[in-house]
Amino acid sequence: MRKGHFDLVKGIWERTDGIKLTIGDTEDEFGSYLKRNKGMSFICKDGRIIVGTILCGHDGRRGFIYHLAVHKDYRRRKIADKLIKLSLKQLRTHGLKRCMLMADNINESAKSFWTKMKWRKRDDLQMFSIDL
Ligand SMILES: CC(C)(COP(=O)(O)OP(=O)(O)OC[C@H]1O[C@@H](n2cnc3c(N)ncnc32)[C@H](O)[C@@H]1OP(=O)(O)O)[C@@H](O)C(=O)NCCC(=O)NCCS
Repeated sequence: MRKGHFDLVKGIWERTDGIKLTIGDTEDEFGSYLKRNKGMSFICKDGRIIVGTILCGHDGRRGFIYHLAVHKDYRRRKIADKLIKLSLKQLRTHGLKRCMLMADNINESAKSFWTKMKWRKRDDLQMFSIDL
């Protein structure tokens, strides 16, 4: 994924239920994230159309995945599986031992997907945040 993909990538995020655009989703912030986490985020293309995305990075201690999205017409073809594998491989290469992600409480489909993919649902944690 490159900064120049921003408009197309944002388009798929806007059209995907379960993806919430938020702080960090401007073109500049997107570019900075990719620069800071080089080679860890990926797109899947069919010709010139972007049909899958994953944003991935780390803070030196934990890896994080955001905005995993696959176009409705391309689902259940292991595109997400492949995108996740590519990102996790990069995290391992950088020495990371664990990757986290946040899923919206009401996104039942995401919950069943991550469970199916054998990710552990962390009932022992709660998310807190503050805007800067
Ligand atoms: C969740 C999502 C990324 C899955 O993409 P996908 O390309 O269809 O997934 P894959 O084909 O790689 O699926 C991998 C496995 O999970 C299964 N799977 C896919 N979606 C699933 C779901 N919603 N619930 C349970 N299992 C699911 C597949 O059948 C496959 O299983 P298999 O290995 O036994 O064949 C896609 O449905 C999507 O974009 N959803 C909306 C956005 C979203 O919620 N993203 C997650 C935000 S946290």
